[in-house]
Amino acid sequence: MRFRGFAPLLCCVTLWLGAEAGEFNDKDRLWILQHAPLGEPPADPTNAVADDRRAAALGRRLFFEPRLSGDGTRSCASCHDPNRDWSDGKILSDGAAPGRRHTPSLWNVAFARWFFWDGRADSLWSQALQPIESDAELAGDRLSVYRLIGQDSMLRDEYVAIFADYPEVTERPHFSQLTSTDQLKVNRVFSNLGKAIAAFERTIVTSDSRFDRFVADLRSGTTAESNALNAEEKAGLRIFVGKGQCRFCHVGPEFSDSEFHNLELPTRKGAALDLGRQQGIAELLEDPFHSRGVYSDDTEGRAALLKHAGYVSSIPGPDSGRALALVESEEQTRGAFRTPTLRNVARTAPYMHDGRFSTLREVIDYYTQLEADFVAGPYRHAVHFPLELSDTEIAALVAFLGTLSSSESPQESFGSD
Ligand code: HEC
Ligand code: HEC
Repeated sequence: MRFRGFAPLLCCVTLWLGAEAGEFNDKDRLWILQHAPLGEPPADPTNAVADDRRAAALGRRLFFEPRLSGDGTRSCASCHDPNRDWSDGKILSDGAAPGRRHTPSLWNVAFARWFFWDGRADSLWSQALQPIESDAELAGDRLSVYRLIGQDSMLRDEYVAIFADYPEVTERPHFSQLTSTDQLKVNRVFSNLGKAIAAFERTIVTSDSRFDRFVADLRSGTTAESNALNAEEKAGLRIFVGKGQCRFCHVGPEFSDSEFHNLELPTRKGAALDLGRQQGIAELLEDPFHSRGVYSDDTEGRAALLKHAGYVSSIPGPDSGRALALVESEEQTRGAFRTPTLRNVARTAPYMHDGRFSTLREVIDYYTQLEADFVAGPYRHAVHFPLELSDTEIAALVAFLGTLSSSESPQESFGSD
């Protein structure tokens, strides 16, 4: 009775919490449960040393090694800085030359099925080879990298311990001047180094977030008491799996369907048109290091794996890749980019393939204005925009995304060389 004067206010707060954040219905619960736990990265049969600790140790060394770059000043870590959540905090990347896209964080990268914003690599190890030679990144070359391994006794010993043999070739100034047999040997060493780097990248995995703890509580039936998420964050979660339709693309424990969507972001002033996935498919088919090529350790295994996962139309490789190009019409792939993970997203600004948004609020504002229909996710759901979200709902969604950050800082698990 003493607090009677506050009753209307209390009642409204309760109503709001009840409507927006209270108990989750069965449908919500089903969707929420599929977002955690993260588990282990899927196996990569195309890389025989994917889970070899010695390979991961060599890969770590190479990741921080500036001698991979043309002028000896840059390493992978210059852009994928562990102290910046494995990204660089910049809008567009800045390497040996200005880049045209934003540097993605490497958290949980081993969970992806395609790599780069346009998916032009279909394994983590073949991805690693491209920045070494790209003019906009390390601007190095495979023959110099091959020589580096031969000449540095520590690297050579580690290499031989893992891959048994360091093949000698008849020296020529340029790769193109080597005999075709020697080119194959250099490519073999080059691809093995990619496999070692991939083994290291597979260890860049987030630890539990508050969201994971909440899901664990939900599973054990103790949500009512769970204080892992506050009322606003729970409201955001409901929007994420409900009217926000976010879960259709940001699906599963890694919060990505690993597929490509064109969110109709207008080309920025002065920037060249980016064809995204359309060009990514073409480049993947040309890549001698793709997962069905001679440098892959299991040309059929990965395909079988993907088939098992229900991604029949997306099996990488020359034949299926072409099939994929046919399956996806030009219109669907042009300007489409891969759905990024949302784990640790609050720490990895700026956002989108061109880094155009500097806050999560800006990203969600964009979704509230976007006018488009999508077919999304593994189950081909229809998704309709614009979203009609109030300011409070947008704030709740942003708050929820903050709960996907893992607790430890990157330095704690990896050191910063
Ligand atoms: C100059 C900055 C820069 C350097 C140096 C660099 N990267 Fe990147 N990295 C990027 C950018 C930008 C992208 C996205 C490019 C794109 O999608 O076209 C990227 C993409 C990636 C991806 C794909 C991530 C995903 O989610 O698809 C991986 C993995 C990666 N880099 C690893 C490496 C490794 C390994 C090295 C060293 C061999 C390296 N990077 C060197 C800027 C850099
Ligand atoms: C149709 C599929 C789809 C839906 C639905 C969708 N997203 Fe996305 N999301 C994407 C794609 C694709 C990108 C990258 C777009 C680009 O860079 O061009 C992205 C980017 C993002 C980013 C930036 C992440 C980063 O690291 O750059 C955030 C944050 C995000 N989405 C949150 C959401 C939220 C919240 C919702 C629900 C309101 C949502 N998304 C709905 C596909 C989708």
